[in-house]
Amino acid sequence: MFSTVTRRELLGALSSLSVLGTLSAATIASEVLPQRAIPSSGEKLPIVGLGTTKPVRFIREAGTGPIESVIHKLISYGGCVIDTSPRPPELDARFGRVLQQPEFRDSLFVAAKVNTTGKEQGIAQIEQTQRLFGRDPLDLLQISSLTDLETQWLTLRAWKEAGKVRYIGVTVAHERLYATLEAFMKREAPDFVQLNYSVMEYTAEDRLLPLAADLGIAILVNGPFMNGEFFTRVGGRDLPDWVAEFDCESWAQYSLKYILAHPAVTCVLTETTKAHHMEDNARAGLGRLPDRATKQRMRDYTAGL
Ligand SMILES: NC(=O)c1ccc[n+]([C@@H]2O[C@H](COP(=O)([O-])OP(=O)(O)OC[C@H]3O[C@@H](n4cnc5c(N)ncnc54)[C@H](OP(=O)(O)O)[C@@H]3O)[C@@H](O)[C@H]2O)c1
Repeated sequence: MFSTVTRRELLGALSSLSVLGTLSAATIASEVLPQRAIPSSGEKLPIVGLGTTKPVRFIREAGTGPIESVIHKLISYGGCVIDTSPRPPELDARFGRVLQQPEFRDSLFVAAKVNTTGKEQGIAQIEQTQRLFGRDPLDLLQISSLTDLETQWLTLRAWKEAGKVRYIGVTVAHERLYATLEAFMKREAPDFVQLNYSVMEYTAEDRLLPLAADLGIAILVNGPFMNGEFFTRVGGRDLPDWVAEFDCESWAQYSLKYILAHPAVTCVLTETTKAHHMEDNARAGLGRLPDRATKQRMRDYTAGL
């Protein structure tokens, strides 16, 4: 299930894509992200990705420069997974033009969502996303927070059967939806489930992550920093010395390595507007990961903060 791509292999893969035109070999990171397989297909994804809620909103005030820099940084580490959600059409149109730039178009795995109620409204929203993002097929289509689950799932299944989307799944970002999610996973075994999981929010470990492993469902993780709350809680403290045992360089990597140490996790989505934070987050995928005893120590340590 776990595999690594060497820098040479990444350069080889990128050289066949236009991305190498703008990312010179010198800017490709010296180490690249390991990959894990999507159970339903065997296709492999790099283990750190980008959540785009905040960076897409930031386009309004800062233009598309920051999100382009963040995506470049992700790709330089061999990353490709970009999670998206429907935004006001004028914003998604600008973001969509970024996704369609030649240096990104063929290098990304783009996950989209439907977050509305009603069959016709859902189809209209998905069609709009597909048009604005210029992606046919979409890589992954998810029902956001289980919204109008039964109606939208029929649409997603029909879209997958028609070849208009490669994978389908659902998302949650709060424990209150876990019971509904568990029943849905057992009934439908979707390709992907996206859920919240971190060193401070680990309830998913009890049932959902083992269930995903049993059923062969890929897991995307959201909220690795609890939308920034994690950084407020750890404050300006120094990292404890023992984090060197699992090659941890920052508080961000502390939470990310906790998440990535779970074998059911396929990819963790980190949301950022800053290329240097994207680099910090990507580097969490390199080096050693904590073992079970160390994970318990990490939880105990942050619980006391
Ligand atoms: N229901 C759903 O489907 C759902 C719900 C929530 C989230 N999500 C997905 O999950 C993604 C991430 O979840 P989230 O919204 O909870 O965000 P998050 O990744 O937990 O936290 C984002 C915050 O952390 C900061 N940050 C990121 N990397 C950092 C670093 N290395 N050092 C210091 N600060 C850092 C960011 O600020 P800077 O900009 O300053 O880096 C941002 O304020 C979303 O973008 C979305 O794709 C889905």
